[in-house]
Amino acid sequence: MKKSRIGILTSGGDCAGLNPAIKWVVKTALDERLAWERGTQYEVLGIRDGFKGLVSVDPLYSDTEGHIVSLNQDIVRTWDRIGGTFLGTSRFSPYDPENDQSKLVIENIERLGLDALMVVGGDGSLAIASRLAQEGVNVIGIPKTIDRDLVETDYTLGFDTALNVVTEEVDRLRTTAGSHKRIFVVETMGRTAGWLALEGGEACGAYIILIPECDFSMERVNELVMEGKRAGARYEIIVAAEGAKLEGGSEFVKKAGVDSFGRKALGGIADFVASEIRKGTGLESRSVVLSHLQRGGAPSAHDRRMGRYFGIAAVDLVVRGDFGKMVCYKNGRVTACPIDNILGRLNLVDIKTQYDVERYNGRRTILSQ
Ligand code: F6P
Repeated sequence: MKKSRIGILTSGGDCAGLNPAIKWVVKTALDERLAWERGTQYEVLGIRDGFKGLVSVDPLYSDTEGHIVSLNQDIVRTWDRIGGTFLGTSRFSPYDPENDQSKLVIENIERLGLDALMVVGGDGSLAIASRLAQEGVNVIGIPKTIDRDLVETDYTLGFDTALNVVTEEVDRLRTTAGSHKRIFVVETMGRTAGWLALEGGEACGAYIILIPECDFSMERVNELVMEGKRAGARYEIIVAAEGAKLEGGSEFVKKAGVDSFGRKALGGIADFVASEIRKGTGLESRSVVLSHLQRGGAPSAHDRRMGRYFGIAAVDLVVRGDFGKMVCYKNGRVTACPIDNILGRLNLVDIKTQYDVERYNGRRTILSQ
């Protein structure tokens, strides 16, 4: 029987849903019954710590530092219940202009005998995958990011679990907010996309939701807060996306500079808004930054199922020899598109149809649009 070796790595920020995807890649690739039908015996090698693993491994010598792990069904049996990624991840690009290590990565892919490389990642990691594909590597992409900002797919692994974290944490905040008559400003992740804040805010019933796609004014926020107060609210919950901006301003950043994917470290909006509410209304207000809690915890049922389907579909693409593709979920179906289609584009909230720009909240008409 023909033999074929698949490598898989997770790259960029972790999230729930990565382990289920890896598990189902392994289970599907190593399925004995399918091996006979396909006439090919697959092997799956896990590459640790994203693209860093492909730079650090020296395949000609023994891999004493464990950058590569051979995966089998016993190893991955329980992985779909567990958050994060057992393979580890990094925000590391081999195409760093100051230290381009892409040649080494391609050499190592050859030396490891990988017939296909699966990259589970967001837009930065999939852009790397696309460049490798252009250089002749047989790449398959699996979309993940709690930001859900990739185009061509209606779902990215990790989003649903993160949404549940936002909802559960705000439920918890409500009791203490009510006891003390406080305004709570809750900062969510999401970078330049407002999906997590908007859908999280809608799910938890937030009074105000600030998203990057619609610049806000503090005067309007304070006006809305006072309106709520006059209407008898004891407390309010405001959800603010980390990437939301003041009118005429720019994103709030934790520190100067960018990471190796060229991105700013966003953060600080909740503190700012809470302090401006205190100054503008005299009401007691506090900030909570959900931060990496949103990326943690066990995958939700949805992330387990989507990880499973994406993992299976990724192996289907390998079996078909259909490389340079990203698996995706579009109009209720798992399908695939050229990875290149996602380059330079982001899936953002359409404020004309999905947001109330007057009340800084979710839409109030649905059927009439
Ligand atoms: O892109 C995923 C994400 O979680 C963003 O929402 C957030 O801005 C960023 O990663 C945080 O990255 P780090 O793990 O480097 O702090």
